[in-house]
Amino acid sequence: MSDVHVRTTDREDAVTAEVLASFDATPDPRLRTVMHSLVRHLHAFAREIRLTESEWETAIEFLTRAGHITDSKRQEFILLSDVLGLSMLTVAINEAAAPGATESTVFGPFFVDDAPEIPLGGDIARGASGMPCHVSGQVRSVTGEPIAGARIEVWEADEDGFYDVQYPDGRSAGRGWLSSGIDGEYRFWSVLPAPYPIPHDGPVGDLLTATARGPMRPAHLHFMVTAPNFRPLITHIFLADDPYLDCDAVFGVKDSLVVEVTHHTDTPAPEGSGPHEGWAEITFDLVLAPSDDR
Ligand code: BEZ
Ligand code: FE
Repeated sequence: MSDVHVRTTDREDAVTAEVLASFDATPDPRLRTVMHSLVRHLHAFAREIRLTESEWETAIEFLTRAGHITDSKRQEFILLSDVLGLSMLTVAINEAAAPGATESTVFGPFFVDDAPEIPLGGDIARGASGMPCHVSGQVRSVTGEPIAGARIEVWEADEDGFYDVQYPDGRSAGRGWLSSGIDGEYRFWSVLPAPYPIPHDGPVGDLLTATARGPMRPAHLHFMVTAPNFRPLITHIFLADDPYLDCDAVFGVKDSLVVEVTHHTDTPAPEGSGPHEGWAEITFDLVLAPSDDR
């Protein structure tokens, strides 16, 4: 090893050691651990790729653009976390160790917390375009007991791949919440979801383009299910045969969340919502893990 290299690594190590020491007196032990680990990994990353000053500037410009495009409706930093797989890694780290529970996936940026309540069998589409799709199943525990009164929030994009909040007219459609019935049963009308691109007109989209990756997500329906004494479940169902199942831009697909869709043309639709020329049907049970503090 040459003297020059030894001196360079000494200088690099001295910077890292000094920064690590600057966090030694952090009163909160968790924050101290997090900051020490962050500095160690961040510095190791810069060393490994031999970060140039112009690359450092590019990264700062990227983060600055992400900040500028972020507002109450657009969260470019979550999108960045999503396309880097950090969101799904966090889901995996925190997933309940409860065999048989429905698996979780990314939350995404399109949930709103004041969606309307709909009755069992009601319609969450509320004007969203697309083929009517009846979704039903049971909410139950991992030991098989039905969970009555679970709150089931559902949201989805329309057949053009847009959520209501992406339209400029302030509409509310393709979302709602319902309570499971006495036997844990749930059912509602929606529209058959379509694949759509994540917002890709900002820095995250530029990153995807520069790395020859696509912005598409396979068609899915979002669920958030909560019930007393159970861990909240945030998940989606995906449709079998979707062309993007193997290349979800945010890595959210899990095999157990992929469902078959039954297409009907002559069968009368349940719950008197028809007659429809054609409608789709999905069944999917939602199995909740017990909460940690039960
Ligand atoms: C979504 O499924 O709504 C979503 C998830 C991650 C990024 C963008 C959209
Ligand atoms: Fe989505």
